[in-house]
Amino acid sequence: MARMAPTLAQLFALLKNDEPSDDSEIGILFGTSSEILQAESPAGANELSVREAEVAEWLLDLQYKDSTVSATENESSSPEKDSDPLNKEGSKAIEKPPDYIEIYPYLDKPSGSSKNASPKSEKKSLISEKGSLESKEKQKESEEKSLISISEGGLESKEEEESLEKAWDSSEKGEAPTPKPKKSVRMKCNENVSVSVSVSEIPSMSKLMTLKSCPSVGMSLESFDQIDSSPMFRSNGAGGNGESNAMVEEAWELLKKSYVYYKGKEVGTLAAMDPSAETLNYNQVFVRDFFPSGLACLMKDPPEPEIVKNFLLKTLHLQGWEKRIDNFTLGEGVMPASFKVLLDSHRLKETLIADFGGSAIGRVAPLDSGFWWIILLRSYSKCTRDYALVELPEVQRGMKLILNLCLSDGFDTFPTLLCADGCSMIDRRMGIYGYPIEIQALFYFALRCARQMLKPERGGKELIERIDKRITALSFHIQQYYWLDFTQLNKIYRYKTEEYSHTAVNKFNVIPESIPDWVFDFMPLRGGYLIGNVSPARMDFRWFLLGNCIAILSCLATGAQATAIMDLVEERWEDLVGEMPLKIVYPALEGHDWRTVTGFDPKNTRWSYHNGGSWPVLLWLLTAACIKTGRPQIAKRAIELVEQRLSKDGWPEYYDGKTGRYIGKQARKYQTWSISGYLIAKMMIENPSNLVMISLEEDKRIANPRLTRSASFPP
Ligand code: GLC
Repeated sequence: MARMAPTLAQLFALLKNDEPSDDSEIGILFGTSSEILQAESPAGANELSVREAEVAEWLLDLQYKDSTVSATENESSSPEKDSDPLNKEGSKAIEKPPDYIEIYPYLDKPSGSSKNASPKSEKKSLISEKGSLESKEKQKESEEKSLISISEGGLESKEEEESLEKAWDSSEKGEAPTPKPKKSVRMKCNENVSVSVSVSEIPSMSKLMTLKSCPSVGMSLESFDQIDSSPMFRSNGAGGNGESNAMVEEAWELLKKSYVYYKGKEVGTLAAMDPSAETLNYNQVFVRDFFPSGLACLMKDPPEPEIVKNFLLKTLHLQGWEKRIDNFTLGEGVMPASFKVLLDSHRLKETLIADFGGSAIGRVAPLDSGFWWIILLRSYSKCTRDYALVELPEVQRGMKLILNLCLSDGFDTFPTLLCADGCSMIDRRMGIYGYPIEIQALFYFALRCARQMLKPERGGKELIERIDKRITALSFHIQQYYWLDFTQLNKIYRYKTEEYSHTAVNKFNVIPESIPDWVFDFMPLRGGYLIGNVSPARMDFRWFLLGNCIAILSCLATGAQATAIMDLVEERWEDLVGEMPLKIVYPALEGHDWRTVTGFDPKNTRWSYHNGGSWPVLLWLLTAACIKTGRPQIAKRAIELVEQRLSKDGWPEYYDGKTGRYIGKQARKYQTWSISGYLIAKMMIENPSNLVMISLEEDKRIANPRLTRSASFPP
């Protein structure tokens, strides 16, 4: 009898990669096409049904695109995979570097870099800024004073200038690496062409069966397992019904419109394009906002990586400048929160202006920018296999500077990173000072990405050792002390205080009376999550979506914790998703808490904006986490909700209200990351192999004791 074709669940097992398949299954995935047919059918290829052969071909396509499925599988054969230096985390970093050139700061090439740009694109590059600039000349002047202006000239090193410019020029000359042609797959529910496999046939499936499908969607993993790789489904997200296809098309158009050009080349995307609202800094390219835009360009079929490369190089260039606020100089590695391109209408010259936090409301440096930059650099390399960019001495140096900021010795007794309020996506006072999960998860993700990309030369080796130690300590700390589920909550509830010495159970001397009432009702018997913050005598029990999803993608959360987090999302769907995905934080601060924690912030009133508002951009993070944990049906359900309103409402930045029913009080319309977040979510659901660009495998070197309390059910 012919062997059954693999199901999508197996694909998840591969993407999860923490659970190596048995050898026979690996055979399916890493042989040549004919080997697959032979190996899988004892009686030969002819015994495979057409459908099975199609699926096998599709899996090969996937292998072609993603050479990084798992370490175990990796060894089994793919030469392409072996050639991917980004798979060498934990063994060797990239070797054989070109000569390292110490150069600083990075500067723009004075002229000629736009020589190949067509006048049309040149003109286009200026249009978006020109109108508003001419009419707001005065505003611009004062703005320029408060921002750090990047002007040309003042080169300290000719070599440096040439080196960075060479990279910049290569994309201009059309030398951007040609990414591997992408093959797309689309999953659809079609009972007529069901392909399934019994659990007993595939040992690695037994673990998957412990993952629960979403009951409310009424769809099992099997019914989601249909794979169609025909060209009509290679659709850049437009593989749905007519309405959703129109929405996807609109999203691509809007994304394109948000492009910001510098010297004729696209370098980023505007935060928002709302003609009806005050611009403030929404006409800038935010580093964190560009991340989903960049990913959309990388996941596109065919990919458009140039904008990502240009963005990475331009922001690196901005990092190289001395950053001063009043008389204080910021750390060398700080990346900007945002930048914009200004046109000097007299000299017809473009100038870059960057904000490192000096202009931001509350004057906080964006701790997350550097992390997003490193993670995007890896995504870019994964997509394009352009390792030359990563190996550039300037890029290596930029990474090291970011990491030096975070790995320097201090008075810390925890491996977590101490932060000011407002240093990340939640860029206003919201009581996240201390050790917020969002930053810790991004920190961990960036450390592991950098670990794959750093070269040992020029101090790299020592840094790599520090990274390794920190990765181990950080994951232990977060998995142990941030994890909360029913069992753990009960333990904390019964904590004794004033325990002295290292044998203390209540390590941070948390007073049980400080546990807020809401958390007892919120905590389901099934599920759990990483809480918002842990520091002496303080646990912030609030749920933050970004930190939890990034913890899943980076494998900061254990496999069992990741599953439990998804369980919680299902169990608390009304609270965390409601009518519009997704709550940035739950619950909102109200009354006295709102007054003391936010400082009476009128923008962050209860269930609005950062204080319990619903942010469509977060859809991509949930989708990625769902795919990684083998629960795509949860993401599909959220995407359906978004499709009911987001486009009709003009792609708002956020929604207000307990269930997210109302367009946010001060929400910008045509918010770019709401647009790109939707696109990536669609592309990942249709082609789960896209996940490899933003997901890491489990770090097998971290020998952490697995936490039994992370199981979804109490014993
Ligand atoms: C808001 C958000 C911030 C985002 C910026 C630009 O300030 O809080 O996270 O980067 O808008 O969209």
